[in-house]
Parts: sequence; structure tokens; C-alpha cells
Amino acid sequence: MALETHNGGLERVLVLEVTRVTEAAAIAAARFRGRGNEKAADKAAVDAMRRELALCEIRGTVVIGEGEMDEAPMLYIGEKVGSGTGPEVDIAVDPLEGTTICAKAMPNALAVLAISERGGLLHAPDMYMNKIAVGPGYPEGVIDLDAPTIENLMAVAKAKGVPVSEITACILDRPRHAALIKAVRDAGAGVQLIPDGDIAGVIWTTDSRETGIDIYMGSGGAPEGVLAAAALRCIGGQIQGRLMPSNDEETARAAKMGIPDINRKFLLEDMASADVIFSATGITDGSLLDGVHFRGDFAETESVVMRSKTGTVRRIKTSFRNVGTRYIG
Ligand code: FBP
Repeated sequence: MALETHNGGLERVLVLEVTRVTEAAAIAAARFRGRGNEKAADKAAVDAMRRELALCEIRGTVVIGEGEMDEAPMLYIGEKVGSGTGPEVDIAVDPLEGTTICAKAMPNALAVLAISERGGLLHAPDMYMNKIAVGPGYPEGVIDLDAPTIENLMAVAKAKGVPVSEITACILDRPRHAALIKAVRDAGAGVQLIPDGDIAGVIWTTDSRETGIDIYMGSGGAPEGVLAAAALRCIGGQIQGRLMPSNDEETARAAKMGIPDINRKFLLEDMASADVIFSATGITDGSLLDGVHFRGDFAETESVVMRSKTGTVRRIKTSFRNVGTRYIG
């Protein structure tokens, strides 16, 4: 039976359970690094994550997953996962965050999972979300998704006590961000462009001294927005997001998933509203985490796992034996 914490909430022992799940997904996906086969890498990560979830003592429901039931055979939204005993939890997964970067063996591909009490994570449909985020230590409301770019940058600079020229925004390198990138540079701030992986992009803002990134801006996946919010709920910081449906069908899908007001601005507390545990394991080497390192039949992984109840952030290095037989999909 799962152990209870002294102060209730999600069982503390789940921290290690969820780490096992992202570790398994990362090892499986790492076999496909640099193979140019995004689908195979993703499938390996999904299969491994699902297998490992089945061993967890939880009664889990996937609220953010690989898609709707009719489009994803595994880890689809609504799928029941876990051993069927233990606490009832909601689960958000991104077994392979950065399919393209994994296929190209580029930095910062991750296996990611967040787990919360029932109803604690926004059921975000798979569409774009406009996002803005900063790390901890800023006054509440320092950023506003609806404010002009220059105002957000100046507010962050003022709160940090530096000129705006010392602020760097992380933005996904996409043609759709041309105007945003120009606005940041026109304001005098710097831009760090990333090819993919905006969960890491948001998390980097929480350690700007190390990463050099102060603010995350721009649109990416809505599910990734919720996972990033779950991480910030643990480490601290602020994030706001708004869905960006590209047609009426997407608007209707959002309504079906419980979001009737498509223009709603979601704050961190709306996206991750309850006690949450977040875990990410590196697949390829990156600045957030080392990737999986294989040595013969051994593998070493690095994970970061956080718990909102206490704000504890753990970095876990794990050595695995017999990975050839245990983690082949
Ligand atoms: P995948 O792993 O699903 O490819 O997502 C990678 C990613 O870069 C996310 O981090 C980001 O939110 C999203 O894709 C951006 O979407 P797009 O590539 O369409 O701009």
C-alpha cells in the first residue's frame, strides 16, 4: 500500500514511482536517437511509459496524452492507467518531448510526466497555446499575456533591477514568431531561439543565472503549456496561456473538453490547480538534463523530479543493469 505523507496530499512515495516512468520512456526513446525516425522513437517512449505506469500503485486517468481515444492506441486521453489500487490521480504525459530533436540527436529531448490529485490539471486539447512565463522571485502579475511585448520585457527588467538590454527571451524558432522576435529585439532585449521543446524553455526561466533566460514567450503546444505549469507550480514562477484554435473544429473540441470560453486566459493556478508531482528524464544531452548514456548493458539516466506540496526539487542519477532485456520495446 502506498505510504501517506504527514500532511496529506499526493503520496510522497509517488515521487520515485513517477521518476521510474520517465526513466523507462527516456531509455526506450534513446535507442532511436539520431535515427531520423520520429514515429519509432515516440512509439518506443509511449510503450515503455505505459508499461511502467501499469506497475505504479495508482488509479490513474490520462488527462493529457497522445491524443483522443480514436487517434492514439495508447496513453490516450481518458485511458485508465496504473495497477488499479492506490490513490486516484490525473496524469499528463509527454513520453517524448522533442520528437524531431531526438530523431536528429540534438540537445534537450525529454520524457515528461506530471501527476496530480483528481481534477488538478487542465484538460488541454492538442492545439496551439500562446504562452508567457517567468521564474520565481518576481512580483505577482509582472507579466501579462495581453500586454505589449516591450511592456513585459521592461517590467521583468525593472523587477530584476537590470536594463532591458540584459533580458533574454526564449522563443521557438518558427516563422510564426517573426513579429514577436522583432518586437523583443526592437525593445533592446536578446532572443534565444530553440528548435523545439518549450517545456524546457519555460523551466529554463526558473534558473536565469545558470541558463541566461529570463522569460519564455510565444506559441507552442497547449499540452506542453500544462506540463510546464505543473513544473512551475513546484519550483515557483508565473505562466499564462491562451488557446489558439486554428478552426471551428478545434474550438468545438476545446468546449467538449470543458473549456467553453476559448478566449480564456489561463493562469498557472488554472492549468495546475492542485498538488502535483512533475518528473522529466533527459533523452539527449541538454542544458536541463544529461541524456541517457549507454555502456554495454548498463544505462545511466538523469531526471529532475519536483513536488509542489513541499517545493522539493530532486535531481536523480540512476544506473540500470540489463537494459537490453528490460527496456526494449
Ligand atoms: P513534439 O515532441 O510533439 O514534436 O513537440 C515538440 C514541440 O517543440 C513542443 O515543445 C512545442 O510545444 C511544440 O512542438 C511546438 O509546435 P510546432 O512544432 O508545431 O511549432
